[in-house]
Amino acid sequence: APPHGDKSAKVKEEAAAAVSSVDNRPISTILFIVAMQTEALPLVKKFQLTEDLNSVFPKGVPWVRFYGNYKGLAINIVCPGKDPALGVDGVGTVSASLVTYASVQALQPDLIINAGTAGGFGAKGASIGDVFISSEVAFHDRRIPIPVFDIYGVGSRKALATPNLLKELNLKVGKLSTGDSLDMSPMDEASIIANDATIKDMEGAAVAYVADLLKVPAIFLKAVTDIVDGDKPTPEEFLENLAAVTAALDRTATQVVDYISGKCLLEL
Ligand code: ADE
Repeated sequence: APPHGDKSAKVKEEAAAAVSSVDNRPISTILFIVAMQTEALPLVKKFQLTEDLNSVFPKGVPWVRFYGNYKGLAINIVCPGKDPALGVDGVGTVSASLVTYASVQALQPDLIINAGTAGGFGAKGASIGDVFISSEVAFHDRRIPIPVFDIYGVGSRKALATPNLLKELNLKVGKLSTGDSLDMSPMDEASIIANDATIKDMEGAAVAYVADLLKVPAIFLKAVTDIVDGDKPTPEEFLENLAAVTAALDRTATQVVDYISGKCLLEL
């Protein structure tokens, strides 16, 4: 019998081989999580996706899935859909975590792409229309000043590393901070600065939490609709730029999917 040291080395080798065989398979199923229909519809058109009318989701929920094949990839775009009572998009972390969970369970994707709009910090180099890929995501409105709970609240997680994709597409890279408000209170601002974030959104860290729970790699594509440290009021600036910036997001998301086509996770 081999000495114990050899055996454990062999077990380790086998474990490494098992991991890399998953990461070495070409990516086949992509799940986009997109909070607003306005952000999703241009992509649905671009990838020529069909709305799923026999929902994979529980009966009666407003969640919407579009699906189809594009360049050898099974593409899914899932949106939380319209709030049943109010008719507006179900933005924010609660809906995002639910649809991410249900979609991963139903579709078993190889990769999650959370795509959407974000506020950007001019002082950190963000401009309107920039599309960022986030290296790291965290929350800025979960303050729990008790040891260890504080770190849990911030919930910082790393995105899948995509060095080759970054090089190829020349995307801006920055940290993303997530909270359930469009505005920014002074307390939120302090947390965002502590998170070293360049952009802020309302879903990213929630998607990252679920992706981490279910062990699905995730990337975050965020297009800047408003400058948070500028002088225009955020709601007006956001609505004014939403359509044009969505077009930029759309172009980048297409480039990303084109790049992913035929590649495995380790090649990104
Ligand atoms: N999405 C677009 N702009 C935003 C902002 N300023 N804050 C949070 N989410 C956003």
